[in-house]
Amino acid sequence: MRLSVLFVLGGLALAGGGPALAEDPEAGRQVANMCRTCHGLDGYAQVPIAPHIGGEPKEYIEAQLMAFKTGAREHEIMSVVSTSLSAQQISDVAAWYAAHVATATLPDGVSAADAPVACVSCHGVDGISVALNAPNLAGEVNIYIDTQLKAFRSGKRRHAIMSEIAAEMTDEEIRAAADWYARIRLDIAPIE
Ligand code: HEC
Ligand code: HEC
Repeated sequence: MRLSVLFVLGGLALAGGGPALAEDPEAGRQVANMCRTCHGLDGYAQVPIAPHIGGEPKEYIEAQLMAFKTGAREHEIMSVVSTSLSAQQISDVAAWYAAHVATATLPDGVSAADAPVACVSCHGVDGISVALNAPNLAGEVNIYIDTQLKAFRSGKRRHAIMSEIAAEMTDEEIRAAADWYARIRLDIAPIE
């Protein structure tokens, strides 16, 4: 497995020049054709089970794809999708989606003070991440957020910070945090 990855990277470096893992958003756009039915070409999800990924930190997108590929994170669809991608394609497609600009708008009648205090230092009041290793939560379907928090709580999905945070949360707190972020409007500007 490792040998074949090295072989592919070696081939790319010979063919294309430049460091093998320097990301290429344009090449990433081609890879994104494999993702668009679910995540959209711009990263605005087209189906409710898939999260929005446009405008998320490249580090986060890349780390999740590698986690699916290695089996550290499991999902019936994404485990299969990531297996077919080389490390170079993962780096490129992460760069493509990360190159988009995501903006969030709080719904009428709520104020920043109502945001879940335990989350804002990393996910922001409006669900636009303020940490490179953390995802945006703005506008994700509440069931998606709910499911991920319960996966961290049960140990199905693991992360040093999130597993600890979710372990302390009740179902009601999980639902309230999910609803807060799900109600925020997310816009992702297409790249011309
Ligand atoms: C058939 C639908 C489908 C396709 C095609 C697909 N995905 Fe996904 N993707 C999903 C679903 C569903 C999830 C949520 C997984 C979960 O619930 O843990 C997901 C999760 C992700 C995540 C994790 C996001 C987060 O916020 O944690 C990333 C990154 C991702 N996909 C990238 C991609 C890329 C890149 C491609 C194309 C190479 C792709 N996906 C193709 C359905 C799809
Ligand atoms: C100290 C930083 C930090 C805090 C505070 C924090 N998170 Fe996170 N969160 C992260 C990181 C980092 C990840 C990425 C985990 C991974 O790599 O799997 C994450 C991932 C998530 C995910 C998965 C999203 C996806 O797209 O798959 C959800 C949902 C989430 N956090 C919700 C919350 C909620 C709700 C709170 C408040 C109760 C919270 N987080 C507090 C750092 C934080």
